[in-house]
Amino acid sequence: MNQNPSAEESLRQQEYIRKVRELTKEKEEKLGRKLRFHIETLGCQMNAKDSEKLAGILTEIGYVSEEEEEKADFVLYNTCTVRENANLKIYGRLGYLHSLKKRKNPGLRIAVCGCMMQEPDEVQTIREKYSFVNLVFGTHNIFRLAELMYRMETEEGMIIDVWEGTDEIVEDLPAVRKYPFKSGVNIMYGCNNFCTYCIVPYVRGRERSRTPEDILSEIRALVSDGVKEVMLLGQNVNSYGKTLEKPVSFSELLRRIEEVEGLERIRFMTSHPKDLSDELIETLAHSKKICNHFHLPLQSGSTRILKEMNRHYTKEQYLEIVRKLREAVPDISITTDLIVGFPGETEEDFQETMDVVRRVRYDSAFTFIYSKRTGTPAAKMEDQVPEEIVKDRFDRLLALVQTIGQEVSGRDLGKVLPVLVEEVNRQDGTMVSGRLTNNTLVHFPGKKELIGSIVPVKLMESRGFYYIGEQA
Ligand code: SAH
Ligand code: SF4
Ligand code: F3S
Repeated sequence: MNQNPSAEESLRQQEYIRKVRELTKEKEEKLGRKLRFHIETLGCQMNAKDSEKLAGILTEIGYVSEEEEEKADFVLYNTCTVRENANLKIYGRLGYLHSLKKRKNPGLRIAVCGCMMQEPDEVQTIREKYSFVNLVFGTHNIFRLAELMYRMETEEGMIIDVWEGTDEIVEDLPAVRKYPFKSGVNIMYGCNNFCTYCIVPYVRGRERSRTPEDILSEIRALVSDGVKEVMLLGQNVNSYGKTLEKPVSFSELLRRIEEVEGLERIRFMTSHPKDLSDELIETLAHSKKICNHFHLPLQSGSTRILKEMNRHYTKEQYLEIVRKLREAVPDISITTDLIVGFPGETEEDFQETMDVVRRVRYDSAFTFIYSKRTGTPAAKMEDQVPEEIVKDRFDRLLALVQTIGQEVSGRDLGKVLPVLVEEVNRQDGTMVSGRLTNNTLVHFPGKKELIGSIVPVKLMESRGFYYIGEQA
C-alpha cells in the first residue's frame, strides 16, 4: 500500500519540472534571454503563500521573476473571491492583458488560478469571454503547475484543471520567499465553519491540518536560512490539529514551535473566537516569542446577527475573551474584521457593533461592506439592507475605528522596544522601517544593512498609526 502519496506526487512533479525546463531552454535560445514570469496576487496571506510556491516552481523551471507585467512572457493572476469587487478587478485586468497580447506580445501566456476559479460560473465566463487565457486552475492543484505548463505548451486550446476538493497535502514544494527574514507557514488548509456570508469553505475545501513534524521541519529549515519571524497561517488556527490521526492542539503546536532555536517571533492568523481556549491564553502569557498582537475577527457586535452569521459566540462571550486576553497580556494589541450590512441588520444591531468597538478599543480594524456571494446561505436571506443605509453605517464605523486606533496606537511612546527592520523607508532613504511585536510600524534613521535584524529603538514621536524613533 502506498503510505505516502505526497512523496510520490512530488517525484512526479519533479519529472514535469525537468520536461518543461527543456521546453523553456529552447525558447530561451530563440529569444537570447531567460523567460520572465509575473504573478499578481489578490486576497489573503494564504494566496500570498500560494504565490510563493508558484514562483518556486517557475524558478526551478528556469523562469526569472519580473516586476513589470508588460515585460513578462508568462503572467499569472492568483485570484480572490471573498467579496465581489475582487472579481470585478480581475476581469478589468484581463481586458488589459488581452490588448497587450494583441498589440505587443502575441507569445504572452496567461494563467488565472486561485479561489475565484473554484467557482464553476467564473470558469465558464473565462471560457466564453476570455478565450485568450491559456491556463485555468484552482486552489487544490497549485503543486501541479509544472504539469499544467507542460500541457499548455504541448496541447491546443485553453487548459482548464479545477479540482472540487482534495484530502491531499503535498509537502516539499519549492518556494521563493518575498522576504528573507520572515515567512508565512501554512499549518492548515480549508475551513469547516460555513459562516453564512462566506465563500471561503466552498473554494478552499474542508479543514485539514499539516502534521506538527512537517510544520516544525519547515520552520527549522526557514530559520537556518535566515528567517526570524514566522506567521502561522490558517482560516481558523484555533481548531488546528483536530483532524490529525494523533490530535494536537494549537497551543501545543505553539509551544513546540517556541522551542525552535534562532526563531525570534511567532505570529498567527486567523483566530476564530469560538475555538479560542484558556489553554491558548495561558500559552500566550508564558511565551517569549509569540508577538503582542491578536487578530480576533468580531464580524458583528449583535448577538442576533452573530447567530444568523453562524459564528457560534455572543457579544458577551467575545468581550469576555478580550478581557481574559488583556488580563494575561496587558499591553496586547487587538485587531479585528467587521462586516456592516449583513441581511436583516438594523440600526440597533449596528449600534451593538459600535459598542464593542468602543469597549475593546481596537488598534485597527478591517471594515467591510457585506458582499453577497452566490451559493452562500446569506445570499438567499430576505431583508438585504439598502445600499445607502449600509454606506452610511460603514462611514460611521470607519470614523470610529480610526479615531480610536489613533488614540491607542501611541501607547508605547517613550519606551525602548525591539523592532524587526523590514526595508529602507520609501520616502526617505536615510531612514529604515520595521515593526514592533504588536505590528505597529516604526521609522528611524538607519542603514539598509539593518534589514532583517531586530534592534532596540526608542519611540520618540507617535504619528497616529506609526512611530518615529531612534536606535537606542
Ligand atoms: N477565516 C477568517 C477570515 C477569512 S475572510 C475568519 O474567520 O475570521 C476575511 C474577512 O473577510 C472576514 O473576516 C470577513 O470580515 C470578510 N468577509 C468574508 N466574507 C465576506 C462577505 N461576503 N462580505 C463582506 N466581507 C466578508
Ligand atoms: Fe469564512 Fe467563517 Fe471560515 Fe473565516 S471561519 S473563512 S469567515 S467561513
Ligand atoms: Fe480570498 Fe481565497 Fe483568501 S477567497 S480571502 S484569497 S482564501
